[in-house]
Amino acid sequence: MTAPTAPRPLADLTGTIVLVGAGKMGTAMLDAWLALGLSPKQVVVIEPQPTSELSALAARGLTLNPPLPAVHDVAAIVLAVKPQVAPTVVPTLAPLLAPDTVVLSIMAGRTLGFLAGALTQHTALVRAMPNTPAAIGRGITVAVPNAQVTQRQRELVHALLAATGMVEWVDDEALMDAVTAVSGSGPAYVFLLAESLSAAGAAAGLPPELANKLARATVSGSGELLNRSTLDPASLRQNVTSPGGTTAAALDVLMAADGMTRLMNRAVIAATRRSRELAG
Ligand SMILES: NC(=O)c1ccc[n+]([C@@H]2O[C@H](COP(=O)([O-])OP(=O)(O)OC[C@H]3O[C@@H](n4cnc5c(N)ncnc54)[C@H](OP(=O)(O)O)[C@@H]3O)[C@@H](O)[C@H]2O)c1
Repeated sequence: MTAPTAPRPLADLTGTIVLVGAGKMGTAMLDAWLALGLSPKQVVVIEPQPTSELSALAARGLTLNPPLPAVHDVAAIVLAVKPQVAPTVVPTLAPLLAPDTVVLSIMAGRTLGFLAGALTQHTALVRAMPNTPAAIGRGITVAVPNAQVTQRQRELVHALLAATGMVEWVDDEALMDAVTAVSGSGPAYVFLLAESLSAAGAAAGLPPELANKLARATVSGSGELLNRSTLDPASLRQNVTSPGGTTAAALDVLMAADGMTRLMNRAVIAATRRSRELAG
């Protein structure tokens, strides 16, 4: 029996995709698009410091740092530069816009209003917030469109984002601050959990290397168990907690009034507030 062929949703795409900024996130997206069948010949990358991998792709037909007037038939512009450089970079891209071009921004805190002001008020725009597991195809991205985005443009953006994991759409841009606080910043909270579990293991007398290994495998293995399970996290937790046992003793501390739920709530409120302060 032959293995089923993986779907190649980007293989049939027409037009050019312009990626602006091939850093960590831009490169993760580009790699995923190419893996899904997008031809390097359909990709233009604007990146001041191209990696050797990018130069190798240029040898396969990808266009690297062309003069902008030479770029035509742009289906989508993907903005993956740091938010700080956006005011200087985004307005320079206006000549690339054709009537059916959609602009997808993954820049944290850069609003649809900012993007429309930097380009034109009638540009079709999608603001999205991915997260770092995108690098292994296990990210989750939340996207919000402006009123100019057509169904076809939305499908194209969905395909570009789904290449790195799950995609959720919202209509209310104000939700993006809380999205940033939960899934955008969330991987750091999980890494901190592994760090603190490791440190606590060492404090309890384990050799630090063993504590580190146990914490790392426990966090990543539990994450994968959650990923594969149909149960919700609370049920999975209850399934490994016997009344009066060791896990219950730890959870009495973690779930106390001043425990993890309250701390996580405060953390997400702080990140949401900071996201609101930085937005523009
Ligand atoms: N990483 C994440 O987990 C994550 C999550 C959600 C959203 N985001 C958003 O994704 C965006 C990219 O983040 P990142 O982590 O990938 O950052 P990064 O690694 O610093 O990538 C940004 C890239 O843009 C390049 N660049 C700078 N100026 C440019 C210009 N004028 N034209 C074209 N490219 C230019 C940078 O080149 P130089 O290195 O030469 O400056 C760099 O390669 C940010 O806006 C961030 O808010 C990231």
